[in-house]
Amino acid sequence: MKNELQKIKEEVINKISKIKKEIDINNLEIKYLGRKGELTKILRNLKNLGEEQKKEMGRLGNQIKKEIRKEIERKKEDISGYFSSRDIDVSLPGVKAEIGHLNPLTIVQNELEELFTSMGFMILDGPELESDYYCFEALNIPKNHPARDMQDTFYIDKKNKEGDYDLVMRTHTSPVQVRAMQKYGAPFRGVVPGRAFRNEAVDACHEHSFFQIECLFIDEDISVANLKAVVREMLSKIFEKDVTIRIRPGFFPFVEPGLEVDMSCTICGGRGCPSCKNTGWLEMGGAGMIHPNVLRAGKIDPEKYSGFAFGFGWDRLAMMKFGISDIRLFQSNNLKFLNQF
Ligand code: DAH
Repeated sequence: MKNELQKIKEEVINKISKIKKEIDINNLEIKYLGRKGELTKILRNLKNLGEEQKKEMGRLGNQIKKEIRKEIERKKEDISGYFSSRDIDVSLPGVKAEIGHLNPLTIVQNELEELFTSMGFMILDGPELESDYYCFEALNIPKNHPARDMQDTFYIDKKNKEGDYDLVMRTHTSPVQVRAMQKYGAPFRGVVPGRAFRNEAVDACHEHSFFQIECLFIDEDISVANLKAVVREMLSKIFEKDVTIRIRPGFFPFVEPGLEVDMSCTICGGRGCPSCKNTGWLEMGGAGMIHPNVLRAGKIDPEKYSGFAFGFGWDRLAMMKFGISDIRLFQSNNLKFLNQF
């Protein structure tokens, strides 16, 4: 039996030395040390021996088993070391950590804020969940006024003591006008880049939550000429060229006169193309001279001060600047889109 054990040991160690693949070493382990393995079988036969021999052979058998196991482990380490060092090419250049991209809306926001700051405007913020008062009443849009139908409002399902729905998701950035007047008084110059919400059917041109930039300029003797100059400056900065603008009458309850601002189409240069529906002009936003009622709501004397205001869709600006055809892309979190900027 002793010889048999020694023979097996030599045989196994010899085999192990020739093995090169992981699968072969695993098979060998099963073949000799597994439950039905050859060495296991011999050790199981010990019970047929006499007491003394059983002890001696038992000891020898276990020792051989240990040695074989050690050889197997060593081989396994060799094999895995061999493969991993071959798989790693230390001369390959490393993988660079990806740097994020700015959303095109943020790029335009940064440009706008930089421009307006350089012209002495404050950058303001206001609540997105707004009171009915600042969103409508203070802007000369009383309750039950037909002008409320101009904007599909998200009313918040919470009534005040009088039984009215008092909170809305702001439908425009204009509510910050009266907030700013109340806080800073006149003269005042400021812009509000921010998010607005409307109960819109979403399509390539409409989002239920979109972006606007509101501008407010109040001082003595402010006129439409000042408004035109600031709008032209802003658009020229965004589009990196001199732009031609056109002003038409429009109606907004918080301005008198109310105006619509168009820009000569930057795509066809005003000749007419599908982007401007062949008119040569693109609608950019609303504007006007601040209504005396709105100045009064802001505790500013309309006899002494006048001012202009405008509100432009800033996602619209970004779409035109970068040639983006679908407004939904901005908030899609689609990396294929974002990686382009
Ligand atoms: N708040 C208006 C809207 O969202 C846009 C607007 C029109 C803003 C005229 C103004 C303004 O400041 O003077 O439809």
